[in-house]
Amino acid sequence: MSRTPTTRKRRPGAGSKWGGSPSSPKKPQSPLDLPPDMGMDMAPPPGGDDMPPPPEMPDWLEEAEQPPPGPLPERPRFKRPNKKDIRYTWDHVVGSWGFRQNQLPPIPGGSPASQAADRLLAVRKELGECERCGLCERSKSVVFGMGNPAADLVIVGEGPGAQEDQRGLPFVGPAGEMLDKMLAGVLGLSRSQVYILNIVKCRPPRNRDPLPEEIAACRPFLDAQLRALKPKVILALGSPASKTLLQTDEGIMRLRGSWHERDGVPLRPTLHPAYLLRRPQDKRKALEDLVAVKQRLTSGGS
Ligand code: URA
Repeated sequence: MSRTPTTRKRRPGAGSKWGGSPSSPKKPQSPLDLPPDMGMDMAPPPGGDDMPPPPEMPDWLEEAEQPPPGPLPERPRFKRPNKKDIRYTWDHVVGSWGFRQNQLPPIPGGSPASQAADRLLAVRKELGECERCGLCERSKSVVFGMGNPAADLVIVGEGPGAQEDQRGLPFVGPAGEMLDKMLAGVLGLSRSQVYILNIVKCRPPRNRDPLPEEIAACRPFLDAQLRALKPKVILALGSPASKTLLQTDEGIMRLRGSWHERDGVPLRPTLHPAYLLRRPQDKRKALEDLVAVKQRLTSGGS
């Protein structure tokens, strides 16, 4: 994605967009190749609507990303492979091809992570190269999810976009870059420490919202994934994910900013990173939600 120069004021020493000095800009090769600090070394403030602004803002709050490009041309119809031809393994449920070598720690046999990976694998096999709704006609991949099956935090998005469809991994496009920055900057977490999935596993054409029948077709697999993962906290990104998980018609602006519960698991709705790319002025709201998630994860409850 091309980036136009920003006229926003930079913090002294912030240097390049990716942190580091102005003379040595270091742009990551991929969303999974982010430098560890991202210039977000400040501790974010506790959340709450009436909190004063933090003394210094992390880079992802400061900088307006460019909106994603306009509508993409429709794809030709893809032929899904026969699921009998595929031998599904843990790789298919952790998305191991999305991680650099040694980035995702090996899963020890018999560990809680391996048990969760086995449970996810059973869901992946059942899902197969799904043709249960019309989304299969124009999307290439079933984007199941990626990350650590033993993660405390599970992040639920809406549905794959173009790059996600190409790579078979969730949140690897511009919204994924933003998500990585939010996770690293506020929660201090990388993709190998969380699990990321979507409410629908196949790309809706032209990135439109998934239709109710598409969500309904995928729902048993979403529910099964969450049962397999047993997260301590769920972060729901954007309106379709939040509404689907909470089975409500309330909009995201009403849902975000407070805790909800789904099958006994605390759930925090927040703004979708793709929305934040278009409306960077709302990033502070997402920061509040993420700070609340961090507090919940570290306090272990309440
Ligand atoms: N947006 C989503 O909701 N999910 C993805 O995987 C990518 C973009």
